[in-house]
Amino acid sequence: MATDKISVKVSKDGPYIIQNCTSLVNSKGEELETKEYIALCRCGASRNKPFCDGAHKKAGFTDGKN
Ligand code: FES
Repeated sequence: MATDKISVKVSKDGPYIIQNCTSLVNSKGEELETKEYIALCRCGASRNKPFCDGAHKKAGFTDGKN
């Protein structure tokens, strides 16, 4: 059975976009739901970590270096 390759893309001023992830486990070892596309928070402001909930916009997160 062929599986599609997993890809990770960094969205401008936003989350990591993961495609074709079939297994995701959090720091507690709990299996998390996956879909064809998932968005993982990289700003630290999400209230639904590890997933992006859009809070990066309100937090003013940018890709720029400080
Ligand atoms: S990247 Fe979207 S809430 Fe953190």
